[in-house]
Amino acid sequence: MDKIIVNGGHQLNGTVEISGMKNAALPIIYACVLVGAKCTIENVPNVRDVALSLDILRGMGAIVNKINDTTVEIDCTDVKPGTSEPELAKKIRASYYLMGAELGRFKKSKVAFPGGCDFGGRPIDQHIKGFEMLGATVTSTCDYVEMTADEHEFYGTNIFFDIVTVGATMNVMLAAVLAKGNTIIENAAREPHIVDLANFLNTCGARISGAGTDVIKIKGVEKLRGSTYAIIPDMIEAGTYMVAAAATGGTIKVTNVIPKHLESISAKLEESGSIVEEFGDAVIVTGRSKIRKANVKTHPYPGFPTDMQPQMATLLCLASGVSYVSEGVYEKRFRYVDELKKMGASIKVDGRMAVIEGGLPLHGTDVVAVDLRAGVAMIIAGLVAEGTTTISNIHLIERGYDDVVGKFRSLGADIKKVSEPD
Ligand code: UD1
Repeated sequence: MDKIIVNGGHQLNGTVEISGMKNAALPIIYACVLVGAKCTIENVPNVRDVALSLDILRGMGAIVNKINDTTVEIDCTDVKPGTSEPELAKKIRASYYLMGAELGRFKKSKVAFPGGCDFGGRPIDQHIKGFEMLGATVTSTCDYVEMTADEHEFYGTNIFFDIVTVGATMNVMLAAVLAKGNTIIENAAREPHIVDLANFLNTCGARISGAGTDVIKIKGVEKLRGSTYAIIPDMIEAGTYMVAAAATGGTIKVTNVIPKHLESISAKLEESGSIVEEFGDAVIVTGRSKIRKANVKTHPYPGFPTDMQPQMATLLCLASGVSYVSEGVYEKRFRYVDELKKMGASIKVDGRMAVIEGGLPLHGTDVVAVDLRAGVAMIIAGLVAEGTTTISNIHLIERGYDDVVGKFRSLGADIKKVSEPD
């Protein structure tokens, strides 16, 4: 079993280049099924969820060629709907974008129920509501979701989501691009990756406007064409290295970013005592020896991202005073707290709220990456802990972080990956 070992006590300094955003790359990769022609996608992160998604598409008949480390050519001309390998599709959340993509192009779809990190119940009722409103007949079990639609009765419509959901906004957008007439999605999520998916689809001939606001308008088109498109930088990967600078008291220049996407993270880091300087496509974060307490509430974009919650909570373990972290997106996203407690943190969780009594020293020990972002929070904790932290279950970190060990090491961390027999 692979593990990451971190010896704490080293300040991080230097420059780190951010990869393409996982949560934009994944829907765009699945959108290639909708496009049905050769697409060249650039700035693709080298992460497991992407590799697995490309394997899923290959298994469905796509021709996938890696041009270089970050560019991939995907030709889904001959893909057959309903042929994704269930065992692969069940491993990740993003495989659910196949539903919208298959339905939009073929007017039928069958995809295994998606997996992903365990943050409590993660229903897909809003996706299904949107597909049904467009004209699909949906049958779902706990194993798979199957849909059919009559070509002549698959029409654009007005869809008002009951909650703000990233996944359903993108999935319904995918399904609606080739529907007849106009679709309006209201109470849409506004994340930068939604804008990225819309921009990609528009370069392929779609007519989507309003992405990035809570009202997205889609004029149906008959056909899409292939295109070349570069994925936006990963704001969560960037935020993670920004927090690492703040936690270790170092100075890190985080490059290949869009500073606007980082505003809620930069603001919270400044509130907790760090200095954040913004440049065109970079930010420099300088941590200071005294970290201030802060309260954090996660929200959909442009609020503080839930995917930065474990990293920020780890930083607040080092702050003097009591900080309150409240989770506004998922019902259960504090499973990592028990791991931080093993390292000496004092945190009490009550439902969706964690109360952190900061300032207690952290010490290295054996901890588990309970999910993707929680795993990287363990690395940050290990960087500032006294002694050695050994993190297991690191395949979860590798799902979404490109060369995480190499990047931290280049900043001066004493970190390595080891393989042990199971
Ligand atoms: C995506 C991201 C994930 C991120 C999240 C919020 C991917 C692969 N994953 O997840 O990293 O944490 O956005 O930024 O991109 N919900 C429903 N019904 C639905 C859909 C969602 O109740 O039909 C609920 C969810 O359970 C959750 C909340 O809405 O409580 C937000 O979910 P959503 O924004 O859809 O997140 P994901 O797309 O699953």
